[in-house]
Amino acid sequence: MILVTGGAGFIGSNFVLDWLRSSDEPVLNLDALTYAGNMANFAALQGDARHVFVHGDICDRALLDRLLAEHRPRALLHFAAESHVDRSIHGPGAFVRTNVEGSFALLEAARAYWGELPAAERAAFRFLHVSTDEVYGSLASDDPAFSETHPYQPNSPYSASKAASDHLVRAWFHTYGLPVLTTNCSNNYGPLQFPEKLIPLMIVNALAAKPLPIYGDGLNVRDWLYVRDHCSAIRTVLARGTPGEVYNIGGWNERTNRQIVDAVCALLDELRPDPAGPYRRLIQFVTDRPGHDRRYAIDARKIERELGWRPAETFETGIRKTLQWYLDHPDWVQQVQSGAYRDWLARHYGSGAAAQS
Ligand code: NAD
Ligand code: TYD
Repeated sequence: MILVTGGAGFIGSNFVLDWLRSSDEPVLNLDALTYAGNMANFAALQGDARHVFVHGDICDRALLDRLLAEHRPRALLHFAAESHVDRSIHGPGAFVRTNVEGSFALLEAARAYWGELPAAERAAFRFLHVSTDEVYGSLASDDPAFSETHPYQPNSPYSASKAASDHLVRAWFHTYGLPVLTTNCSNNYGPLQFPEKLIPLMIVNALAAKPLPIYGDGLNVRDWLYVRDHCSAIRTVLARGTPGEVYNIGGWNERTNRQIVDAVCALLDELRPDPAGPYRRLIQFVTDRPGHDRRYAIDARKIERELGWRPAETFETGIRKTLQWYLDHPDWVQQVQSGAYRDWLARHYGSGAAAQS
């Protein structure tokens, strides 16, 4: 079996669902179920013995040791993290705890377990660390895209904590020989994304006729990848990646935030027209995020050249699937918009704009 951490979050749950669609190899899913983890994501897996869920914390070393000894996974895929830049600005402590200390605990538990495996299993074992392009910092508009050798220049508490975890993973390969793989991916979007991130926030706010808050001038650029393409890239790296190597994953899809919000509004006008008028009437430019990185762009030629991976979706096909999923799953949206979610909106955007209900 494989062990997945953070498998109840956005990318982790898409990964688990995709994995079990194409394989009968069981998944042991360890997740602390923070605000970002959601058991409703597994409605389709109810009663499926291939999915073993454990509610627990990656910082709990005794639990990690017990799970590894009991289930003997052939690979560990590490998705668990605090993942939202805005939350990291309000409270960086949780990011250092989970992303740095949790990754450290996991590396140490994996090293102890791997060291005791018989030779063949030891050679086949992999520790795949799921990371982000944000560790590379910010690009000017005419800079080349991030390659795997781009210097690390993290600018937010989130990206700094992910950069720290990447460094630990690298050191555990060079010092101890642990067979690690690291992936650095661009911004994901798709089904099951918590509506604090740009695209799902815009969708759920538009449908509720609430303001669509764009930070600053809205000209910050991100490279957007459909989540199931990220999952297929991770499966590819797990199967064929070389231990110790880093693979950048991206969608060749650079867009400004304004373009993203315009695209969401235009597609909603088509799929769910609002008698009150076009959704773009709800756009509001709000105070910028402190330290807001201007541009991210991924050079994904290495994974394409060495492992033969390319995204299957364009932004146009991926965003249409995403919108349709949110329109088809109002119950999921309603369930995640709990009191704690409303508290976050009020704290971050103020009580007037995005938070009004
Ligand atoms: P998410 O915030 O949606 O999910 C994170 C999951 O980790 C949640 O289920 C949460 O309950 C769990 N978790 C948090 N702390 C934990 C702990 N201490 N112990 C166990 N579980 C814990 O995040 P996501 O968007 O799915 O991102 C997954 C991974 O991919 C992260 O490592 C993130 O840095 C990386 N990544 C994300 C993106 C993106 O655009 N979302 C892009 C590139 C890389
Ligand atoms: P986000 O989804 O938080 O991802 P990240 O910060 O990890 O790239 O934000 C994506 C972009 O959208 C980023 O430039 C910040 C911007 N943004 C807004 O303009 N308004 C919002 O309400 C949010 C959440 C993000």
